[in-house]
Amino acid sequence: MQVITTCAEMSAACRATPRPIGLVPTMGALHEGHLSLTRQARADNVTMAASIFVNPTQFGANEDFSTYPRSFERDLELLAAQGADLVFAPPPSEVYPDGFDTWIEPGAVAEGMEGAARPGHFRGVATVVAKLFTITRPDRAYFGQKDGQQVAVIRKMNDDLNLGVHVVTMPTIREPDGLALSSRNAYLTPEQRAAAPVVYRALQAAESQWQAGERNASLLQAAARSILQSEPQLSAIDYVSIVDANTMAPVEAADDAQRVMLATAVRLGSVRLIDNVVLA
Ligand code: PAF
Repeated sequence: MQVITTCAEMSAACRATPRPIGLVPTMGALHEGHLSLTRQARADNVTMAASIFVNPTQFGANEDFSTYPRSFERDLELLAAQGADLVFAPPPSEVYPDGFDTWIEPGAVAEGMEGAARPGHFRGVATVVAKLFTITRPDRAYFGQKDGQQVAVIRKMNDDLNLGVHVVTMPTIREPDGLALSSRNAYLTPEQRAAAPVVYRALQAAESQWQAGERNASLLQAAARSILQSEPQLSAIDYVSIVDANTMAPVEAADDAQRVMLATAVRLGSVRLIDNVVLA
């Protein structure tokens, strides 16, 4: 496994390696969710590449960039055990050298939900993913459904800019009690960790109403909200939204979209958790 820290060397290594290349972009602090992506990338491709880069431009000024969990040596061990061929781990100054001033500005797909709660977040995500795609020129790139809006933003960018990457979305990996795996779960206190599965229970409550035939988005959202509100550890519900899973546009009658996603973001103290289920 080659660990590469410069854009020029990564581009050269990707040009020299046999295709197809599967890329798994990450911010490190790898967990089983990431490993489900690397496993699939390993199975689908001749070359498996991963990136480890805590991308400063997708964090807001008051967010957790400096404290974001970092476990570089362990991440490298895990990637080696997964059979990664190339790992791209550049310093911020390599990705954003002095004078860097060109950005990908996603449109409506990035406006609601996470885009509204975290202004500029998807501009940072889209810009770094575009750079990773350009540096590595992968045939396939792998992302988790846990960040459902991120996947929609990346798919739209990939289509709109003809980047030609096959974007593969992998299912959310959960703890046995339903909590979606996330590097930020490490921030939860034992009490918050005990309360956190309420998020998935709330999504499941709405999902069972959907399965029973309910299609009114307000009623489905209310079903999820009432479960969330029953958990006293929850300090805020940022949103509970039913959206078109491709465009992220809100839907009223859930039959109006071909693919429908129910998404939520909540706060447990200062920790923000997001999760979603695709209803159809
Ligand atoms: O999902 C993540 O870990 C990040 O947003 C990504 C896609 C690696 C871009 O920095």
